[in-house]
Amino acid sequence: MTSAPKSFSIKSFGCQMNVYDGERMAELLSDTGLAPAAPGEDADLVVLNTCHIREKAAEKAYSDIGRLRRPDGSRPLVALAGCVAQAEGSEAQARSKMIDIVVGPQSYHRLPEMVADAARGSRPIDTGMPALSKFDRLPRRRRAAPSAFLTVQEGCDKFCTYCVVPYTRGAEISRPWKDVIAEAHALVGAGAREIVLLGQNVNAWSADDETGGDRGLDALIRALSRIDGLERIRYTTSHPADMSDGLIAAHGEIDKLMPYLHLPVQSGSDRILKAMNRSHSTDSYLRTIDKVRSARPDIAFSGDFIVGFPGESDADFEATLRIVDAVGYAAAYSFKYSSRPGTPAAAMEDQIAPEIMEERLRRLHERIAVHQLSFNQSKVGLDTQVLVERKGRHDGQMIGRSPWMQSVHFQSAAPPGEMVDVTLVAAGPNSMAGEVRSERTSRAAA
Ligand code: SAH
Ligand code: SF4
Ligand code: F3S
Repeated sequence: MTSAPKSFSIKSFGCQMNVYDGERMAELLSDTGLAPAAPGEDADLVVLNTCHIREKAAEKAYSDIGRLRRPDGSRPLVALAGCVAQAEGSEAQARSKMIDIVVGPQSYHRLPEMVADAARGSRPIDTGMPALSKFDRLPRRRRAAPSAFLTVQEGCDKFCTYCVVPYTRGAEISRPWKDVIAEAHALVGAGAREIVLLGQNVNAWSADDETGGDRGLDALIRALSRIDGLERIRYTTSHPADMSDGLIAAHGEIDKLMPYLHLPVQSGSDRILKAMNRSHSTDSYLRTIDKVRSARPDIAFSGDFIVGFPGESDADFEATLRIVDAVGYAAAYSFKYSSRPGTPAAAMEDQIAPEIMEERLRRLHERIAVHQLSFNQSKVGLDTQVLVERKGRHDGQMIGRSPWMQSVHFQSAAPPGEMVDVTLVAAGPNSMAGEVRSERTSRAAA
């Protein structure tokens, strides 16, 4: 590969923070004169922004690289970014000769110069975690979807025994107050109506505000809620141990803070939670759920679950089903435990057989689906507002989100970015049907 690339494409896997990083890399590359390749078109530079959380996710990166070779034998310049890049560094290049660039999640501000180096034939690697934040070196936000991601916190100090994130993303850091506020203004100026604050442990965010006082996420949300034109605020992912009383109270006090909270519990068994090093019990978790529900009675909860953690017995798994019932999740994500190299759980005895995991996952899915449908049904007949996000599959159909994160489809001429008044008329397992009450689009009071 000798000539400098003119076009690029970026494919992001994994969590929303990778989606955010992908957007920022795209802005950065565009600023250095590369053009995004049109959909379906070959790009000169392909960035694979990868996830290391489970084995399958990590393997996906390598199978995708193999497919980048073109029928004529040529190939694009390939950059491996994200958490696989961070975890594997130079090993990735040893494994695949097609990887020209390896760049971790904390150093992708260096991507343009690395691309230039790679075009000259070197194979640059940067998995550093520089003290000076990459954010200071990224271009200003210019484009935003109606619902835009904004990373405010990165990294994790919790060290759950199964998880690679503390190793791939490093220690917890919070972005400064004024940087977050400035980026939120830029996103709203670029068309965002909703901002989703992101962090591996977003509710651990804290920073000094403009007066120098130490503030938590609730103060940040309160400040953001004063931005004109911003209609909705969400945040994810939260750790149960970092749900402060102030943040819980904010759910009852700030109208723009949407009634939806993703609060992963992972297991309903205290014995397993302890082995996972989760720093909460089922009891403390349920108490937090109750407090949030008292602050905001209509709140929708979602969660994450792992089945088949080493040593998980039938009784432990039954306890997980019970906590699903106790919370009544509006949505939840469940995963088979995946042993990750270098994590303490990978060395634990009593790893669970794949077929047992499979069966538990199936039963957990079933149980979650019952609650999800019943949550959706409980909203039928309600008048609410939907933020229009995109066109649907049918003629004249639009798709947006309810305050409770439900996907809502309805007939409307309103373009993406509008808030429309909708009556929820029918519930499905994964979405709601809505009818627009008036085509008058509305903006919530700022
Ligand atoms: N910081 C967040 C989660 C980040 S990872 C939290 O603590 O909740 C997203 C989810 O992936 C986790 O909640 C967990 O359910 C799942 N996960 C993480 N490591 C995993 C592993 N080794 N095997 C299976 N699932 C895993
Ligand atoms: Fe992983 Fe636990 Fe940190 Fe979440 S809190 S990112 S599951 S170590
Ligand atoms: Fe995956 Fe990294 Fe996110 S491992 S879940 S992309 S933090």
